[in-house]
Amino acid sequence: MTVGIDAVEIHAGKLRLDLAETFAPAMDEDPGKYTKGLGLHASSFPDVHEDIVTMGANAAHRLMERKGLEPADIGRIDVATESAFDNSKPVSTYVAGCLEKVFDGDFHHANKGERKFACISGTQSLDDAYNWIRAGRNRGRAALVIATDTALYARGDAGEATQGAGAIAMLIDENPDLVALSQEQGFGSADETDFLKPNQQFPSVDGKRSVQVYLARMREALEDYESVAGRVHSEDFRYVPFHTPFPGMVRKAALLGYRHMTRGTAIEDDLEPAIGRQPLPDEFDDESGYRDAVREYMDALKETDQYGEWYDRAIEPTLDIARHVGNWYTGSVHVARVSALRRAREDGLDATGERLLVGSYGSGAQAEIHTETVQEEWETELAALSIEDQLDDRRDISFEEYEEIHDVHNHAKESTYDALTTPSGEFVRDGQGPMNERT
Ligand code: CAA
Repeated sequence: MTVGIDAVEIHAGKLRLDLAETFAPAMDEDPGKYTKGLGLHASSFPDVHEDIVTMGANAAHRLMERKGLEPADIGRIDVATESAFDNSKPVSTYVAGCLEKVFDGDFHHANKGERKFACISGTQSLDDAYNWIRAGRNRGRAALVIATDTALYARGDAGEATQGAGAIAMLIDENPDLVALSQEQGFGSADETDFLKPNQQFPSVDGKRSVQVYLARMREALEDYESVAGRVHSEDFRYVPFHTPFPGMVRKAALLGYRHMTRGTAIEDDLEPAIGRQPLPDEFDDESGYRDAVREYMDALKETDQYGEWYDRAIEPTLDIARHVGNWYTGSVHVARVSALRRAREDGLDATGERLLVGSYGSGAQAEIHTETVQEEWETELAALSIEDQLDDRRDISFEEYEEIHDVHNHAKESTYDALTTPSGEFVRDGQGPMNERT
């Protein structure tokens, strides 16, 4: 049985914070730190009438409308988020409540849940939906997986430049139109405290350490995947979408992934004159000097044609959207997949049958590697997406507006700040708390 992602829709936060023009001068930083170092140009930012429910419901509504679905066609709704405002009731119940206002029928007989494991919970929800369908418990119905986050940091935190807000809704079904999921998975998991949100709106992050934990868990997941699916080679995959907190993080992950996938191959032989065969340290801690080793290795690799060509083909296309929206936490790796397929369409590539190696990650910490195969109707699905319009229509905000709106989204603070955009035909946050209606 082929099970996978049948369709996706995205909702990007309505505001845009330009990192080079607006954020860097206010931070007294060189814009190159953001555009070149982190690889980010802008954040998508939520207007005051947007939250995780409205963004998720708007993406899901567009998805269901486009696919001609009614609530009776959906047997399961899972929301993945690390921005939840209720520790008991799942966000999917609010989203279902919104959708029931505009569709005939209701979701009475759908199983609703919420997944939490930092950014990897979007992929875990996908896995849950896959297992539910493969187990034959779906009664012919599809699953709706919604990854939605307002990925905001406290002002002054190093993570502030990587903020973003948006939702991605995915329809999981048999005989999918977009990508089929592999049965094999690999995991790397350990009890870590690199990123925590103990009942607070903004995370407590050890940013530098979180980068090391990401790399270590990702490598373990790759090794675990190989233990069940056999060796993976860099040339087996057209695209390699990674969780993208910022593109600079993916540059590091790509480097290690490439090194792992080419070990013992003819490519490694070809690379030897340029980079030698010096192994990288096994442990990604400060004492191991991994930063210097990675930088040295990356600098040498960057100069090689082999790596440059692979990176431009397999990694760069996955970053097109992230560069302009920032981190969407649970949605981020799923945006990277869309980004790659969007580029395939722009390049006129016949991607049917191409394989993707997907690297998901959540702080705390866990990485997952699985593979996907692009399905025949992928191009029709991509053509139906409205990403360009959504990104172009965002309103640019000044630094002063950014500060006001950032305060509004800090749940601890009341604010009467007016919305900067005028919503039309969409779900909006209605005053205080998670009450949502559709304008
Ligand atoms: N021109 C070009 N490059 C520049 C530059 C300039 N003018 N100034 C700095 N840079 C480079 C630096 O050399 C650095 O590159 P390397 O990483 O290759 O060394 C890069 O820009 C970033 O500079 P800093 O390391 O000085 O940046 P920072 O310390 O202020 O912030 C961070 C980096 C700690 C990762 C911060 O962004 C952060 O805390 N982010 C949130 C946590 C995060 O995203 N972690 C990622 C892994 S955890 C995860 O993935 C889960 C999740 O979604 C949160």
